[in-house]
Amino acid sequence: MSANQNTPFTPPVIAIDGPSASGKGTITQLVAAQLGYHYLDSGALYRIVALAAKNNNISWNNEALLAELVEQLDIKFSDNEIYLNNNKVTEKVRSEEIGGGASEVAIHPALRKALVDLQHSFRQAPGLVADGRDMATVIFPDAKLKIFLTATAEVRADRRYKQLAAKNKSADYQKILEDLRQRDTRDQQRSDAPLVQAPDALLLETSNSNIAEAVAFVINAYLANAKSN
Ligand code: CDP
Repeated sequence: MSANQNTPFTPPVIAIDGPSASGKGTITQLVAAQLGYHYLDSGALYRIVALAAKNNNISWNNEALLAELVEQLDIKFSDNEIYLNNNKVTEKVRSEEIGGGASEVAIHPALRKALVDLQHSFRQAPGLVADGRDMATVIFPDAKLKIFLTATAEVRADRRYKQLAAKNKSADYQKILEDLRQRDTRDQQRSDAPLVQAPDALLLETSNSNIAEAVAFVINAYLANAKSN
């Protein structure tokens, strides 16, 4: 029997971290689809907690109750939809208000800890592409490829503005830019799992490139990496 037959298969992970509105979600989903891998939108978990807390009148500051609440949530992702306790909440969790709430609940170590096993459970064959803030640093430190995806705050605010306008939602560019900067600061300065580029992550700056170029960069880096191992 060869050594390989004795070693359990650990599905590979591509970790894609970066600030708000950097295009992580879109790029991660396209990379996952191209490779036939699973996809984890870890930000959605923090958004779901913020929404559930709001529905249950639990303050986004109440660390102990938030961590308890997580244990009671039934979260499902299916066909691009998000379900909380069997109710479709896709649109609700994507709101700017809940995005802000997500970054408030995300500062609490007890809550982050309560979400670790759930995130690990997405690591399934043939592989996983995971997006968030701490995929490379905390949740999947052994990821085969780590990408830190970013763009200037102005470019990101402009992208978010256009996304909202395309959905016919009222949007104020200056307010979006301000919220985004506030969220960046909160995500970068928290003590537990702050938003930071892992030392072994590749930097992908997308201010002057499009989605297709970013996807090609990740896939090429991954395939080059696989060849050299
Ligand atoms: O869509 P956007 O990039 O604005 O946000 P998101 O990825 O949905 O994440 C929402 C919030 O959850 C972020 O501002 C972070 O504070 C938090 N988050 C986190 O702390 N850790 C993660 N792995 C993912 C998100």
